[in-house]
Amino acid sequence: MTSAGLSIQGNLWLGPTSLVRDLDLRAPAGTWTCLLGGSGVGKSTLGRMVAGLPVAARLDGLIAADDGNPLQGRVTMLGQQDQLLPWASALANVTIGARLRGTRPDQTRARALLAQVGLAGLEDRRPASLSGGQRQRVALARTLIEDRPIVVLDEPFTALDAATRAAMQDLAAGLLAGRTVILITHDPLEAARLGHMAWHITPQGSRSLVLPLGPVPRPLDDPAVLQAQADLFSALSQPCAA
Ligand SMILES: Nc1ncnc2c1ncn2[C@@H]1O[C@H](COP(=O)(O)OP(=O)(O)OP(=O)(O)O)[C@@H](O)[C@H]1O
Ligand SMILES: [Mg+2]
Repeated sequence: MTSAGLSIQGNLWLGPTSLVRDLDLRAPAGTWTCLLGGSGVGKSTLGRMVAGLPVAARLDGLIAADDGNPLQGRVTMLGQQDQLLPWASALANVTIGARLRGTRPDQTRARALLAQVGLAGLEDRRPASLSGGQRQRVALARTLIEDRPIVVLDEPFTALDAATRAAMQDLAAGLLAGRTVILITHDPLEAARLGHMAWHITPQGSRSLVLPLGPVPRPLDDPAVLQAQADLFSALSQPCAA
């Protein structure tokens, strides 16, 4: 799969109110780029804009792929809530995109993806009878079946316990390798494990954050990861230079 990098530039407005000014960030092709920043600053809004979904805000600027081609049809997003249909089985939730588009769902592939995320045998379960981690895995399989080169993950692991979160991070890193991933997160450790690049978004702008080098996912007990977690925590507590 040929992936593309992204750049986001401009000023983000909510009606007459400035949300973020002087945004200037990039997400290199085939890597994981993390967006961090305070609640309400506009991270999900930017993720939805990248995915071409409706938002309340307006970007006075540009979101563009670095290969010069339009983003339309090349992005999928795993939203901040798992957004599973409560009345539909895990299998039907994974194939919802095809059914909404009026195309034939690939049941074989959906079953294979559910097995890949560790849910073989649970295909007929409804979301209410799955744990939070299992629901997130259904949502991940629903994202993967779209097979897009650019993937936005909006706080996908936040509601999980620490061990399940680490397992889901490993799973997602493996399954999404080679794609351009935008990961919205509040967790410095998650960024230190998964990010090739990270940006701190504040109302005053975006600035890049320092992460460890090397392939992801990085081990939780890697001293460079733990140091980066502490450094990120400290950097996120600093106001952004205007
Ligand atoms: N549908 C909407 N209608 C009006 N305002 C909205 C809507 N969705 C979001 N907003 C506002 O836009 C701003 C940015 O919201 P957004 O969800 O992008 O923040 P966020 O950085 O993702 O926050 P969090 O970390 O809490 O998820 C907030 O001020 C929010 O109140
Ligand atoms: Mg959000």
